[in-house]
Parts: sequence; C-alpha cells; structure tokens
Amino acid sequence: MAVWDKKIPWGLVFLLGGAVAQTVSVNYPGPVCAVERSTVTLLCIFTPISSWTLEGRNVPLQIVRVVWCQNHLICQSITPSVYDSESKNNAPRYLYLGDKKGNCTLQISDLQKKDNAVLRFRMEVNHTVGHFTDTSGVTVTVVDKTEMRIISSSDEEVTTAGQTVTLRCTSNCTFHQLRVSWYKDGHALQESGLALHLGPLTAGDSGSYACGLNTNPRMHSPPHTLRVKVAEGGGVLLPLTVGVTLTVLLALSSLALVFFIIRRFN
Ligand SMILES: *[C@@H]1O[C@H](CO)[C@@H](O)[C@H](O)[C@H]1NC(C)=O
Ligand SMILES: *[C@@H]1O[C@H](CO)[C@@H](O)[C@H](O)[C@H]1NC(C)=O
Ligand SMILES: *[C@@H]1O[C@H](CO)[C@@H](O)[C@H](O)[C@H]1NC(C)=O
Repeated sequence: MAVWDKKIPWGLVFLLGGAVAQTVSVNYPGPVCAVERSTVTLLCIFTPISSWTLEGRNVPLQIVRVVWCQNHLICQSITPSVYDSESKNNAPRYLYLGDKKGNCTLQISDLQKKDNAVLRFRMEVNHTVGHFTDTSGVTVTVVDKTEMRIISSSDEEVTTAGQTVTLRCTSNCTFHQLRVSWYKDGHALQESGLALHLGPLTAGDSGSYACGLNTNPRMHSPPHTLRVKVAEGGGVLLPLTVGVTLTVLLALSSLALVFFIIRRFN
C-alpha cells in the first residue's frame, strides 16, 4: 500500500503533530453503480489510531463514535449523517454492518435516487488527536435503467444434446435483491434468479433466451440464442422411438377393434 497516496495526508499530518507516527486509514470500495430499489453493501475496512504519546507516556485510545455521511468532507457532529453510532434515529435503509474496531461496512437497501452521493466514513476516538475522516469516499450512483446481458457457461455456438448449460444474467450496475425473470422465445419461464440452469439439453431447449428485472420492463437483455444439436447417435435413436410408438399404437388399435367386435356380436 502506498502510504503517500491521496488518502493519507489528512490523518498523517494531524497525527505527526501529536507525536504519533501511526497510519490511520480507511479502505473504501470502488465507485458503485446500482439499480433503483436494489441493495448495495459497501465493504469497508479502517485502521484507527490505537495510542498516542503524551508527555512521554503511551496513552491507549479507543473508538467512541463512527459515522457515515453524504457529500460532506469531514462528517463532523453537526453534519447530517446517514449513520451515527451514537444516534438513536438512524435512517432505517442504512444499516451499519461494521464495528468500532476495523470494519466500516455499510449496507443500503431499497436504493432511491436521493441516495446518489459520495459517502464518507468518520471515526472518533476518546481524544481529538484520533478523529479522522478519509475524504476520498465512495461514490454511489443509482440508476433507473441499466443494460442487462446474458453470459453463457458454454462459448460454443451449437450445443450438443445431453450437455448442460448455465445462463447468467448480469449488468454493469448491480441489482442485488431484485427479482430476475427469464424468457424463452418471448414467453416467461417459471425459473427466476441470477442463473438459469438448462440440461440435460434436448432439441426442445433450442430457442431465444432473455433475462430481465421485474421492476422495469425496459431492463431486458438482448436475446441469447441457444442451438441444441442432437448427436450423431440420436439419428438411430429417433426412428427407433418412432417405430416403437407406432407398434404400440397399432397393437392398441387392434385390441380396440377386437373389443369392439366382441361387444358388437354379443
Ligand atoms: C481512552 O480509552 C481507553 C480505554 O478505555 C483508556 O485506557 C484511555 O485512558 C482513554 N484515553 C483518553 C485520552 O481518555
Ligand atoms: C466486514 O463486515 C462485513 C459485514 O459483516 C463482512 O461481510 C466482511 O467480511 C467484513 N470484513 C472483514 C475484513 O472482516
Ligand atoms: C458495460 O461494461 C462493458 C465492459 O465491461 C463496457 O464495454 C460497456 O460500455 C459498459 N456499458 C455501459 C452502459 O456502461
């Protein structure tokens, strides 16, 4: 880790003044794009100051408050926050999954347009020397529309009968917790979820597949064509099946005929 990257100056300059050469840091996730009404989890790690030296004595320090706020560089107490460990009325859609030791993970559910923001994390310890906000923050972008696409587990153009194939529905923006529907030749399938498992494949599985989000009919993937080729051996199997079926049918109709004749002449 580069100590001198853009994240550090605030903390380090402050701490050197207090005769502590500890690196206080926050590791935010990269920018997040998410679909409206979905849920995002911002995985976050931090390293607080653990002690400082006062008049030659080593004094331990302890985190007393953690805060997440929107669009503010410092997040100090007068700033409205989305989460404040010392508050009793935090926004219910913002759930702090972290702790006061080193995990600052924040989960936002039922995302709305107003959640578009740069979020920053602030830690406060029992001495102002250790108060710290990493100004880089994490950018959350909420979109009402995203391009969906299907990724197949098979990169062959034609699939052989008997194989299995998994189609996955994906997008550049996360859509966690939203219901994903699947379509074949324009008709909705029973299956839902991120992945559609198909197999053992038969010729009947050939077709045009699409996936999409229920919340918005515009969010459908372009069609993904699946072509299932019946194997060479299948050429023998098919006439055989037809032959057996015909024989059975013939036997049944003869039986019916016999039955009919017997009833008729009794
Ligand atoms: C901070 O809290 C720790 C642990 O409770 C305590 O040992 C320490 O003396 C406190 N430091 C200050 C500066 O109050
Ligand atoms: C931080 O907390 C989150 C949520 O509980 C968890 O998923 C994640 O693994 C934790 N990170 C670390 C490094 O422990
Ligand atoms: C989605 O990501 C792909 C590559 O990961 C990129 O080529 C494409 O332009 C992106 N689409 C949008 C709408 O951002």
